[in-house]
Amino acid sequence: MRTVRGARVAAIGAGLLALSLTATACGQEAVGGSRYKSKEKGGTIGIAMPTKSSERWITDGRNVAKQFKEAGYKTDLQFGEDDVRTQVAQIENMITKGHRLLVIAPINGGALNDVLKQAKQANIPVISYDRLLLGTKDVDYYATFDNEKVGRLQGQYIVDKLGLSKGRKGPFNIELFAGSSDDNNTRYFYNGAMSVLKPYMDKGELVVRSKQTKLNQLYTEKWSGSAAQDRMEDLLNAAYSGNDVDAVLSPYDGMSIGILSALKSASYGTKDKPFPVVTGQDAELASVKSIARGQQTQTIYKDLRKLAKATVQIAKAELTGGEPPVNDTKSYDNGEKVVPTYLLKPVSIDKSNTQVLVDEGYYTASQLK
Ligand code: GAL
Repeated sequence: MRTVRGARVAAIGAGLLALSLTATACGQEAVGGSRYKSKEKGGTIGIAMPTKSSERWITDGRNVAKQFKEAGYKTDLQFGEDDVRTQVAQIENMITKGHRLLVIAPINGGALNDVLKQAKQANIPVISYDRLLLGTKDVDYYATFDNEKVGRLQGQYIVDKLGLSKGRKGPFNIELFAGSSDDNNTRYFYNGAMSVLKPYMDKGELVVRSKQTKLNQLYTEKWSGSAAQDRMEDLLNAAYSGNDVDAVLSPYDGMSIGILSALKSASYGTKDKPFPVVTGQDAELASVKSIARGQQTQTIYKDLRKLAKATVQIAKAELTGGEPPVNDTKSYDNGEKVVPTYLLKPVSIDKSNTQVLVDEGYYTASQLK
């Protein structure tokens, strides 16, 4: 683990530097060059999550709040209901209340710049949670999973499952889905998956019958399951009369469930017409159960407890003069700065290893029945 003190000092604006110099002159300790660090304990952490419409963010909110409370902080947890203006108002309110630090999973990574400026002016540090805040200097850290690797794991799962990586030539039919256009993670997932799939597409061993392969043709706004279902229905109607689809790249479990509904309506899921390989992400309970039933094929397990832990460790260090843990200071350029990041490892899950989720206490065995 490395720290980014140099980067932090460089990021501090002239006015703020003047502030910390004044504090030093008054005899207070200026620890590590950060304007935030003080010996003060406790206070309230503002936690802005994007939506309650998917299980994972509810779990994130619960985990992050619980772990901050265990670390001696109060918490103010808000969900933005996928509406940018609601999220802006919630964060403004947190700033007005004088919360000590903000943890933000943005709905739209580039839509919070004004409110982040207010946080900066109020000396409130900001941690970007899972999704990167874009086009602003007013974000201090980023905690996430290796998003490019998520995409590579999904792509690799498809080529392995179809046997392409073991010499089968296909051709196999595949359709591609991507996440919301306003979420920075979307392009990392897409690029990671395409780095594995494209060579097979170029050889003609994977065929996208709809011809929709460019990212801007694949977006699924707000990661909506019903939008994914509608698009899958359209694709099946337009490009699959007389043909079967063998694989669907889906970046997120909520979309995978929608895609499976469309496939069921088109009579997939029988011995003669089995479900295609359908990927996913987040190991949401409905999808893990679907995997156990032989419908969805794969998901990506991102242990959200670990993401909460990394976030709390960064926050505690930032607020009390420790060294915030980061392990990537190169990959996440938000257009204004490279945001110091703590990256966690995603894990591919299918029917053969769902037990991992029980062994690690993520779900109980009875939840998976
Ligand atoms: C992304 C996140 C994914 C998935 C998606 C939809 O930002 O990285 O894991 O949860 O949002 O909620």
